[in-house]
Amino acid sequence: MPGSYVLAVASYLLVLSCIATSSAQQSGIEFDTGARGILEEFYVALDGPGWINRTNWLTNAHYCSWYGIVCDPQNNSSVIEINLDNNGLNGQMKFSIGNLRELRRISLAENDILGRLPPTIQQCKGLTYLNFSNNLLDSVIPPEYGTLDKLEIVDLGQNLLQGSIPSSLGGCADLIYLNLRENRLSGEIPANLGNLTEVVYINMSFNQLTRIPRMGEHMEKLEILDLSNNQLIGMVPETIQEIPNLKHINLSHNDIKVFENFVTFDNDHITCDFSNNSFFCPLNEKELACKATCERHRTVPGIAVASIFALVIGLTAGIVFVNTLEKARIREESGVVEDEDDF
Ligand SMILES: *[C@@H]1O[C@H](CO)[C@@H](O)[C@H](O)[C@H]1NC(C)=O
Ligand SMILES: *[C@@H]1O[C@H](CO)[C@@H](O)[C@H](O)[C@H]1NC(C)=O
Ligand SMILES: *[C@@H]1O[C@H](CO)[C@@H](O)[C@H](O)[C@H]1NC(C)=O
Ligand SMILES: *[C@@H]1O[C@H](CO)[C@@H](O)[C@H](O)[C@H]1NC(C)=O
Ligand SMILES: *[C@@H]1O[C@H](CO)[C@@H](O)[C@H](O)[C@H]1NC(C)=O
Ligand SMILES: *[C@@H]1O[C@H](CO)[C@@H](O)[C@H](O)[C@H]1NC(C)=O
Ligand SMILES: *[C@@H]1O[C@H](CO)[C@@H](O)[C@H](O)[C@H]1NC(C)=O
Ligand SMILES: *[C@@H]1O[C@H](CO)[C@@H](O)[C@H](O)[C@H]1NC(C)=O
Repeated sequence: MPGSYVLAVASYLLVLSCIATSSAQQSGIEFDTGARGILEEFYVALDGPGWINRTNWLTNAHYCSWYGIVCDPQNNSSVIEINLDNNGLNGQMKFSIGNLRELRRISLAENDILGRLPPTIQQCKGLTYLNFSNNLLDSVIPPEYGTLDKLEIVDLGQNLLQGSIPSSLGGCADLIYLNLRENRLSGEIPANLGNLTEVVYINMSFNQLTRIPRMGEHMEKLEILDLSNNQLIGMVPETIQEIPNLKHINLSHNDIKVFENFVTFDNDHITCDFSNNSFFCPLNEKELACKATCERHRTVPGIAVASIFALVIGLTAGIVFVNTLEKARIREESGVVEDEDDF
């Protein structure tokens, strides 16, 4: 039994290598073994015949000339980019996209890709750009992505991604831009994201995230933090309030109760939105960060009291004004010298 198994595997491998060799010979151009095969699988799995643009795909033309494919001509035609945004791609990514080891950029946004985010992409160690936004992906974010330490841009917004955000993402040391907006991500935001020292933009709005960790101390470049429309509870940690370059922070539409050790944001350089929370307001509005509207639960009586107060002031001022005019007129008519005891 073991003998015949080994034999079977050996002959299978032999067949595979023959196929690879013959396809390389066909095209007459030297390329890294298997790239064409993977792209063929890619085409079939994602409904190639239905694509908007499929110029040269599966023809005898070299795969480096297929629409959306960019190769490195200096290096055995390895595929370094796949750019097929908004091209009618439809289906699941079940093939080993990770075998395109030299891939640096993959952009498949605005298609109808279903199912799992491909975990094998973690084999593309030089990947810098990953854009799967606006598809129908409904898996978790593979923790393996955290090993991609050259990643700079990650856009996974507008999918159906679920589960919690893997704490391993804190390992993407070069990450500048992280967009996870409009998914179904839940649980706590992992504290390890605080290790993203290069990050400038984070948008996790419209998910079901529950807690902001103590992060921020090392996020010196962070400018935009949008965590609006989640289910965040508890405190805004002091560490978030101390991010030096923050320009925009949106925590609206959550259930945040209080700022930990309140520190004022620099009002001149920052836009904030803390509306639609249940802030406990120990401080007056002027002191509260960035003119946040401090949503007290009893705003209606508050407004009523203010209106009555305004009305009283207004009426009083009106009466005094009319009274003064009347007196001035009388004085003018009678030529009486002004009397200091008028009031
Ligand atoms: C497809 O892309 C190629 C190369 O960019 C372009 O020349 C061609 O006009 C496009 N075809 C369609 C149908 O958009
Ligand atoms: C060229 O490709 C090989 C494997 O395909 C890879 O190991 C190597 O790093 C690449 N070199 C450059 C300069 O990209
Ligand atoms: C291209 O591939 C050949 C054969 O696999 C190898 O000898 C050569 O070093 C490769 N060239 C580069 C630039 O990686
Ligand atoms: C991702 O692709 C979409 C569609 O082309 C584009 O609008 C969006 O800006 C891209 N995201 C990033 C971060 O480049
Ligand atoms: C990343 O963050 C976690 C939690 O904040 C911390 O324990 C860990 O040491 C950090 N790792 C690195 C490599 O900085
Ligand atoms: C974050 O994403 C939401 C939802 O798509 C969007 O409305 C908002 O403008 C984004 N925030 C920032 C600061 O870009
Ligand atoms: C904050 O986010 C909400 C949506 O989540 C949006 O409606 C609002 O305009 C944002 N605030 C600012 C100041 O951008
Ligand atoms: C708070 O949310 C409610 C309903 O979701 C909405 O009617 C109201 O305008 C929001 N207030 C602010 C300040 O965004």
